[in-house]
Amino acid sequence: MKRIPASSRRQFIGRTAAAIGFPTIIPASVLGQNAPSGKITMAVLGWGMMGPGNTAKFLQEQDCRIVAACDVDKKHLEKALNTINGAYKNQDCKGYHDYREVMARKDIDTVMLALPDNWHALTAIEAAKNGKDIYGEKPLARTITEQQAIVKAVQKHGRIWQTGSWQRSEDNFRIGAEIVRNGLIGKLKEVHVGLPAGHSDFAGSKDKRSVTQPPAELDYDMWIGPATMQDYIECRVHKNWRWDYNIGGGQLLDWIGHHCDIAHWGMDMDRSGPVEVNPIQVDMPPRTDIWNTATRYRAEAKYAGGITMTIAGGHNDIQMGTKWIGADGWVYVNRGGAYDCSNPALKQMVKKRKNDKDPKSEVIEVAKAPKLGDDVIKTRLYATPGHHRNFLDCVKSRQPTVTPVETAHHSATPGHLALISFLVNRSIKWDPVKEEIIGDADASKLLGREYRSPWKLEV
Ligand SMILES: NC(=O)c1ccc[n+]([C@@H]2O[C@H](COP(=O)([O-])OP(=O)(O)OC[C@H]3O[C@@H](n4cnc5c(N)ncnc54)[C@H](O)[C@@H]3O)[C@@H](O)[C@H]2O)c1
Repeated sequence: MKRIPASSRRQFIGRTAAAIGFPTIIPASVLGQNAPSGKITMAVLGWGMMGPGNTAKFLQEQDCRIVAACDVDKKHLEKALNTINGAYKNQDCKGYHDYREVMARKDIDTVMLALPDNWHALTAIEAAKNGKDIYGEKPLARTITEQQAIVKAVQKHGRIWQTGSWQRSEDNFRIGAEIVRNGLIGKLKEVHVGLPAGHSDFAGSKDKRSVTQPPAELDYDMWIGPATMQDYIECRVHKNWRWDYNIGGGQLLDWIGHHCDIAHWGMDMDRSGPVEVNPIQVDMPPRTDIWNTATRYRAEAKYAGGITMTIAGGHNDIQMGTKWIGADGWVYVNRGGAYDCSNPALKQMVKKRKNDKDPKSEVIEVAKAPKLGDDVIKTRLYATPGHHRNFLDCVKSRQPTVTPVETAHHSATPGHLALISFLVNRSIKWDPVKEEIIGDADASKLLGREYRSPWKLEV
């Protein structure tokens, strides 16, 4: 067969696509990175709290084109299409109800998944099987078994994966982790992973606690998917599903993929994990409450080498964020650029007005992550130009992102193990190489969950 030169092939596909009425954006997977349009095509799935935020970032990137949106709630889907087509000033982005139809589209290179945790595994695996690169939200999945299945699928199909653990793309978190990795606080002894407590009413539905019919716009059966079918109660569906163990994992699993992710970065634990997890304290809501996830909790994860990580929500001695404590000092980081360090030489103070909006307000000094030279930081960690940009760059270069799938898996695993230790109310031993609970059949059963028929977890 005569080979067609790449440039003619591109022109041919471009012209043919236009002739048969397809949008003329040619996916990078068909044409390679030198495609005339130069666009990476994307589908966005889930238009709730996080989907719109991720989409806004991808809409700003000139080499990305969102061509499909999917949601099982018609009202949410309509908002997605209005936003995306409004931004591009055309009607090219198509709407879908069933994610399998999106994944089957050969002209889509990438997917952004912002779905409740019960859907992470099935959608990610379907995407990987269909050759899509994936921007997927944290925690990697609802159970460790599902996480292992996602890792396997992504590796098997050679996909690029970026996790929504965007803190890795912020300077203060990276510099904190670099200080620890470069031994500047001495031998690491303790790590604090401070997470929120209680339940936040994200959807304003906390008082909607009666059983009703699902609203006409929502395909509730599909929304429940592989989880256990239960009556429709508004306060445990959109956004507030995280307070129901059937779908999510409470504050612990909502946040573990952020602050434990950063803790592991400093500990160099992206491919490993604890060897033992001890439940220290847990407050559960009354059995009659619709929201059934822990409201206050504390667990200790022991790592090889004698490091103890405390994971806690609602305990005043463990501040929200990540704190590493070594033999010679400590470093603390949190959202909003928060950075503090026991060592004055590693701390950079900047002057700021107490009230940003009032030019006359008092000037205060606040700590900021310092720019440390190569003489101090010999091991530099992965710095990105932005989390979403990093994903697109890696889709083109085929290099790992700053939070590849293996990292997401290991970052969330201590949270899953802590939850299991609360449920069985005893210490559990974990083999981080074989990824198995040692000598505890009942605890091991909690590594996965039954799938509601006809859904099956298959890689
Ligand atoms: N990275 C972050 O900072 C951050 C912040 C918030 C949420 N998240 C994560 O984002 C994910 C989504 O959380 P959220 O708060 O946006 O949830 P949400 O309930 O607000 O939105 C989820 C959307 O997915 C839709 N959906 C459910 N099942 C679907 C299916 N099978 N196919 C298509 N659409 C489906 C729902 O109808 C809803 O519109 C979670 O994993 C969460 O942990 C990350």
